[in-house]
Amino acid sequence: MTNVCENGNAKKILIVSYSYSGNTHRIAKEIRMAVGGDSYTIFPWQPYPMEFSELLRQVKEEVKTKYRPRLLPVNVVSANYDIIFAGSPNWCGTIAPPLYSWLYYSKLDGKIILPFVSHCGGTQGDIQKDISRLCPKSEVRETLYVLDSTLDDGRTFPDLLARWLEKNQIPHKKKGKENDDKRLV
Ligand SMILES: Cc1cc2nc3c(=O)[nH]c(=O)nc-3n(C[C@H](O)[C@H](O)[C@H](O)COP(=O)(O)O)c2cc1C
Repeated sequence: MTNVCENGNAKKILIVSYSYSGNTHRIAKEIRMAVGGDSYTIFPWQPYPMEFSELLRQVKEEVKTKYRPRLLPVNVVSANYDIIFAGSPNWCGTIAPPLYSWLYYSKLDGKIILPFVSHCGGTQGDIQKDISRLCPKSEVRETLYVLDSTLDDGRTFPDLLARWLEKNQIPHKKKGKENDDKRLV
């Protein structure tokens, strides 16, 4: 577990994510390589349909009703962490219901939440606002929106990630470089 220091106080990092088709997990993996910490994958109890029109119909309904799906047993204690990176695909302009459930049921008061989403260039929504509503006693920072088609070009995503981490004063290791580990959160 990597500790980020703020005035000598250790900050513990958790990277939690849900991914339907793998893109968000790729982002989570890069974040972990850059900042360290622990990572955790969310799984809904009932997997989502494979067929797109069925999936879309279900997701639209769940988003509209703010449905909180049951998750597979969660074996992470959010109380042990100070900074939570929370990732999801963008589904209908917001986070996917499994992350919604996890955020809703975890005790995140007083924690810093850094949302990140994978998307295809459609409706962006305001994910920072959605999570702030869900976790009103957390400090929810600006969302990292990653266009999924840029994940493979080797340049756009690493640059975007580095800028976002710098803006949030999160010490991070740049690809192929030493950890510039001296700043504050
Ligand atoms: C049901 C559904 C709804 C989606 N809604 C949006 C959307 O509103 N805006 C957008 O940009 N992309 C949307 N997408 C595209 C996904 O966000 C995108 O493919 C993302 O990279 C998938 O991430 P994943 O591989 O982690 O599941 C949607 C995809 C699905 C399956």
